[in-house]
Amino acid sequence: MKATVVVGLQWGDEGKGKVVDYISDQYDAAVRFNGGANAGHTVVLNGKKTVFHLIPSAALRGKLLFIGPGVAVDPQRLIDEYNEVKPGHLLVDPRATVTTPFDIWLDGKLEELRGSRIGTTGRGIGPTYANRLYRVSPRVCDVAMGKDPDFGPLYSAFGYSGDLNGWSKMYSEFLRQHMGDVSQELLSLYESGKALLFESAQGTLLDPIYGTYPFVTSSNTIAPYVSIGAGFPFNKVDDVVGVMKAYQTRVGAGPFFTELSGPMADRIRARGNEYGSTTGRPRRVGWLDLVSVRYAVRLNGVTRIALMKLDVLSGLERLLVAVRYRYNGKATVDFARSLYEQPEPEYAELDPMPETDWASAIRSGRLPREALGLVELVERETGVKVWLVSAGQERAMSVEM
Ligand code: GDP
Ligand code: IMO
Ligand code: MG
Repeated sequence: MKATVVVGLQWGDEGKGKVVDYISDQYDAAVRFNGGANAGHTVVLNGKKTVFHLIPSAALRGKLLFIGPGVAVDPQRLIDEYNEVKPGHLLVDPRATVTTPFDIWLDGKLEELRGSRIGTTGRGIGPTYANRLYRVSPRVCDVAMGKDPDFGPLYSAFGYSGDLNGWSKMYSEFLRQHMGDVSQELLSLYESGKALLFESAQGTLLDPIYGTYPFVTSSNTIAPYVSIGAGFPFNKVDDVVGVMKAYQTRVGAGPFFTELSGPMADRIRARGNEYGSTTGRPRRVGWLDLVSVRYAVRLNGVTRIALMKLDVLSGLERLLVAVRYRYNGKATVDFARSLYEQPEPEYAELDPMPETDWASAIRSGRLPREALGLVELVERETGVKVWLVSAGQERAMSVEM
């Protein structure tokens, strides 16, 4: 019996898809429990790239796949992805919230009305979760039963003129075929000795409560949300894999204290191919921020770290890592205060990483001394063991420490 959560420790796009694919051979089932089609989780296998948005990234391993009640389900995108990936098994919880064309429209409208845009993915995520709390969203079971979304007064209040009559009919058959009590199924599997892998979307710093509000997403992204978003008992989760890049990226607006600009930023963006998996937008890049990572490790109860994209840093002439924040000149490891007060990051300068033949370094298990220096710094600052180091997109380009 094993229940592991894979969670992002930064602003998303840490490489969760790669890690889920990598470890899922040791699991029987994989589960999405938060977010929606705003997620873009990449798996590269023998040169072929697959980007998962709603279906768990363990699909290529032929595992049992689940979409929990905490997910925002866009039925059109789900069906398109299903047809592309052709998973052998997929169960969607009837209580999950459905993203409607109204939600997607409202997402754009709210961005327009806001003074400063958040830079959402435009997938209707904020309105889906908000409308659920307003108690006007359809659930998966409603659409499966052919019930159309109908919140006329809300539509007119916002000036929405779409017609959703007959909308549910397009999706009801698919949803009826794939609908089932995910919460109950997961517990049954667990009790019969199966191993479960929970795949979080987004990252800790995009959590609506703990992240850099208001520049966040609209469902919780931290590991404890498994108990709500999958209906799985929280006291049965015994392993939390925190995924982090060896530097920092962010797509969309919001604070980013170690952000780089100019040639160094351009090089990291180019080498790391830092363009959004969902929207194709260029990602903002910067030095690794261990003050925020330390905060994320604590909130998620991380038990082991996957350190990704080390290859991107090799060949750069400098390597900096933020290890403290200064507020009024005083150095601390307090991240929470930065949510309302501007800190000045304090950096450790590491020996820059040389150009490296990563394939042979990984094959032999001998990483460059400079890479090991970074691993040690991460372990020292977070108090958690780096379990996996990744230095390439392919499943094979990873080494367990
Ligand atoms: P996720 O949202 O956390 O699953 O991450 P994304 O898939 O959005 O973005 C991570 C990107 O980095 C993808 O294109 C991955 O294929 C790629 N990637 C993952 N690990 C590594 C690595 O170690 N090195 C390099 N160069 N690319 C990686
Ligand atoms: P994965 O799972 C990176 C960001 C958006 C925007 C903010 C709100 O691939 O790591 P939303 O559409 O959720 O209302 O947008 O959150 N964002 C992500 N950034 N990776 C993601 O997912 C993201 N999902 C949302 O760019 O800043
Ligand atoms: Mg992504």
